[in-house]
Amino acid sequence: MAGERLAGKVALVTGAGSGIGRASAERFAAEGAQVVAVDVKGAEETAAAIAAAGGEALALVTDVADEAAVAAMAAAALERFGRVDVLMNNAGILDAYEPAAETSTETWDRVLGVNLRAQFLTARALLPQMVERGAGAIVNVASTAGLNGGNGGAAYTTSKHGVIGFTRQLCFDYARRGIRCNVLCPGAVETGMTKEIFASPDAAVMAAVESAPIGRWAQPEELAAAALFLASDEASFVNGAVYLVDGGFDSK
Ligand SMILES: NC(=O)c1ccc[n+]([C@@H]2O[C@H](COP(=O)([O-])OP(=O)(O)OC[C@H]3O[C@@H](n4cnc5c(N)ncnc54)[C@H](O)[C@@H]3O)[C@@H](O)[C@H]2O)c1
Repeated sequence: MAGERLAGKVALVTGAGSGIGRASAERFAAEGAQVVAVDVKGAEETAAAIAAAGGEALALVTDVADEAAVAAMAAAALERFGRVDVLMNNAGILDAYEPAAETSTETWDRVLGVNLRAQFLTARALLPQMVERGAGAIVNVASTAGLNGGNGGAAYTTSKHGVIGFTRQLCFDYARRGIRCNVLCPGAVETGMTKEIFASPDAAVMAAVESAPIGRWAQPEELAAAALFLASDEASFVNGAVYLVDGGFDSK
C-alpha cells in the first residue's frame, strides 16, 4: 500500500526495530514520510527495508529510557531532517505479570522507564520545534492494560495507565499550539513481545485473547494503519483520544 498521507513529513518511531513500531515505520515511509527508526536493536534492518522499498530512513540505536541518549537522538534526527512532525512513542517492554508484592524495584524502574519515562523524555526533546512551527502529532502507544487491571503485572499496567494520563495532559497543554496528542491502545498483537506466548501457548492466555469479540490476534500492520490515521492530517479533530484497536476486547 503506497500513498501520500504523510508526504513532506518527518516521522520518528521508537521501538521501530520490531512489531508494531516496525510496521508503522514502514507504513509511514510508504505514505511519503522521511522516517527516523529508533530502537536498541533492529533499527538498521527497518531503515534498510524502507530504503529497499524506495523510501528514506535514518536508523538510530537509542535506549529511549536514557535521558542523554534521547537528547542525542533528537539532535541527530533534527540534524538529518531539520524537523520532526510526527512522534510515535511505541517502544515498550512487558513485565512478568508479577503482582506488586513480587515486583522487584529493578523491574518497576525499568518497565516504567521504557514505557512511560521515555515518552516524556522524547516529547520534551521534540515538542519545542513542533511548538515553533505550530504543528505536530504525537502518538503514544499504551495498551488495553492502560484501561483495566488484569492485562499485565503491576509495573506494566501502571506504566500504560500513565501513558494515558500523560497524553491527556499533553493534549491539554499543547492543543492550542497546533499539536495533537493521542493514545493508541492495542489489544493482543502477534509481535516480538508476544512470540513467547505463541512458542509455548498457555491455554488461559490464549483463551483470554480469543475472548475478544473478534476472536483472534491482530497483525502489526493493523495497528500501523491506525497509527497512520492518528499521525496524519486526516485526524485533524482527533486530540486527547484513547484510540482502541483491540478487536473489541475492552468492550466485553
Ligand atoms: N503485542 C501486543 O500484544 C501489545 C498489546 C498492547 C500494547 N502493546 C504495546 O505496543 C508497543 C510495541 O510492542 P510490540 O508488541 O510491537 O513489541 P516488540 O517487542 O515486537 O517491539 C518493541 C520494540 O521496542 C524496543 N525497545 C524495548 N526497549 C527499548 C528501549 N529502552 N529503547 C528503545 N527501544 C526499545 C524493542 O527492542 C522492540 O524492537 C509496546 O509499547 C507494547 O507495550 C503491544
